[in-house]
Amino acid sequence: MIIGLPKEIKDNEYRVGLTPAGVRALHDAGHEVIVEKSAGEGSGFEDTLYQRAGGSIIESADEVWSRAEMIVKVKEPIAPEYPRMREGQLLFTYLHLAPDRELTKQLIERKVTGIAYETITDRRGTLPLLTPMSEVAGRMAIQVGAHYLEKMSGGRGILLGGVPGVPAARVVIIGGGVVGTNAAKIAVGMGAHVTIIDNNLDRLRELDDIFLSKISTLASSAYMIHDAISQADLIVGAVLVPGAAAPKLVTQKMLKDVPNGAVIVDVAVDQGGCIETTHPTTHSNPTYYVEGVLHYCVANMPGAVPRTSTFALTNATLPYALKLANKGFYKAIGSDPGLREGVNTFSGHCTYEAVAFAQGIPFTSLDKLINSSSGATV
Ligand SMILES: NC(=O)c1ccc[n+]([C@@H]2O[C@H](COP(=O)([O-])OP(=O)(O)OC[C@H]3O[C@@H](n4cnc5c(N)ncnc54)[C@H](O)[C@@H]3O)[C@@H](O)[C@H]2O)c1
Repeated sequence: MIIGLPKEIKDNEYRVGLTPAGVRALHDAGHEVIVEKSAGEGSGFEDTLYQRAGGSIIESADEVWSRAEMIVKVKEPIAPEYPRMREGQLLFTYLHLAPDRELTKQLIERKVTGIAYETITDRRGTLPLLTPMSEVAGRMAIQVGAHYLEKMSGGRGILLGGVPGVPAARVVIIGGGVVGTNAAKIAVGMGAHVTIIDNNLDRLRELDDIFLSKISTLASSAYMIHDAISQADLIVGAVLVPGAAAPKLVTQKMLKDVPNGAVIVDVAVDQGGCIETTHPTTHSNPTYYVEGVLHYCVANMPGAVPRTSTFALTNATLPYALKLANKGFYKAIGSDPGLREGVNTFSGHCTYEAVAFAQGIPFTSLDKLINSSSGATV
């Protein structure tokens, strides 16, 4: 298969879809990998590294897109990339189609096979290609929070770990999943007092086993959240209700009781945020205040650490890219029901029910299309 690796062109996006190690694995499996010039620059991979791994460097994005049978990317295509997409091409990337009518329309009209990282599932029913970015964002949340707690950065001037004779900062993490657990690891490591709030008691039991007496756990309720954040220096929003907007667990009224200069890092901002006063911000303008509380609500936190994020993402995506390249689309999705879950558009149709529902467009089952369009049984 010819696999194309274009340079990401979305604003402030420095990640890239494959590391040189990924190119090497695909090349060694007998595939041709064409890499757009300087595609890996933002993540610290020079063109020569890709060449040494067996990739060919191509000057123009147009040529990469026109020759590749499968495009491996990070972010969803944006307007200048639409005309480059072509019929039957496999597009393997984050797509986040539900709110993006134009991209969905383009993928359908251009008959692209859009495989979205974010809807691929594994045997446990979790989302293996979302997990690495949640790990990055969770760990970053504390790093960022510690920075903004400094006076010069606008916070209340508190050192996360305290010092002998002075108490450590109080960190309240709402949601004890992947983001919350990774945030807790860093916060505990820095010596903070950590409380994790979740509505899943089994999850709280697991966290209690993992961290022992180093954290406190609380069952989620408006009362307990209000009480915990009233004494917090740093609040991390890390809630997810799959397929739904995040519930607003912290209201603006509650913020009146949070200490002035405390910091909120609402990682769940990409699902609308779990704090009522959250709105999405960017790396170039990441913070704002409401009720004297500093809010950091960057929707693509991993973008700030592209090198780590590229390694973390491609560790998870490469096995799927290899499977698609080695077996071809039909056999790959036939042998892996979780990969099949990633197929959002195929042959001019929307094949992911939640996307079709969100946009009020027709949903067509992939089974039906595959059987009628190719006669192949997968
Ligand atoms: N901003 C970014 O850059 C970025 C990066 C990665 C992930 N995220 C987002 O972070 C959020 C969390 O992701 P995750 O991977 O940790 O999800 P997860 O499913 O692993 O964890 C979510 C947790 O929230 C808990 N929860 C649900 N309802 C709750 C409630 N009412 N009260 C308390 N807890 C509740 C769940 O029990 C679960 O433990 C998601 O919205 C994800 O998209 C954002």
